[in-house]
Amino acid sequence: MKLAPSLLAADLADLAGALELCDAGGADVVHYDVMDGHFVPNLTFGIPVLKALAARTKLPIDVHLMVEEPDRLLDAYLDAGAAWVSVHWEAATHLDRTLARIRDAGAKAGVALNPATPIEVITEILPGLDFVLLMSVNPGFGGQDFLPYVLEKARRLHQMIEQRKLPVTIEMDGGVGLSNIDQVVASGVEVCVAGSAIFRQQDPAAAMRQLRQKAESTA
Ligand code: DX5
Ligand code: ZN
Repeated sequence: MKLAPSLLAADLADLAGALELCDAGGADVVHYDVMDGHFVPNLTFGIPVLKALAARTKLPIDVHLMVEEPDRLLDAYLDAGAAWVSVHWEAATHLDRTLARIRDAGAKAGVALNPATPIEVITEILPGLDFVLLMSVNPGFGGQDFLPYVLEKARRLHQMIEQRKLPVTIEMDGGVGLSNIDQVVASGVEVCVAGSAIFRQQDPAAAMRQLRQKAESTA
């Protein structure tokens, strides 16, 4: 299991401190939510903040683009230090081209699917992907309740990946915490994003260790 703390839930006035907590807690990757106020009804951080943070950490930064027309700013995010980039299937018009651009830049390419989007839409593109990000809440905000039906999507996707022997990993994002991380991992998810379950806890580094322990107790 790889743990990806989501900076959205951190103290936004102290993002460097949040990166230090990620190191202290043994995070594998840092999840960075980009929202444009159009694809989702919220705004977060963009390119200059990513660049500043990438200079402060050795951990890979996983950029989750919740934006319309992701192609427009893709190169800028890649230049700013994105190690993984996911674009939403619902927002990308020329997905094959977009994913190829991410991979050509040497980053890991992912497709994010909203809870209501069936996994079948990525049947053909699966070999062109490094990871699939399954949203387990409706994107736009942290701290929402986990939608349990997404576990079945993960199981089916995992099966599809195994059958075709593809090196694609599954990431789950939204409402993941101590009460469900074991079920998330058991459904075939390798990368767990967690925002509130880490940064809204008194001791975020300890929360990361607890989540890992819980996730691995069922492995
Ligand atoms: C939601 C974001 C998530 C969010 C997760 O749109 O994509 O990454 O930060 O936060 P929690 O873990 O609090 O649901
Ligand atoms: Zn996210």
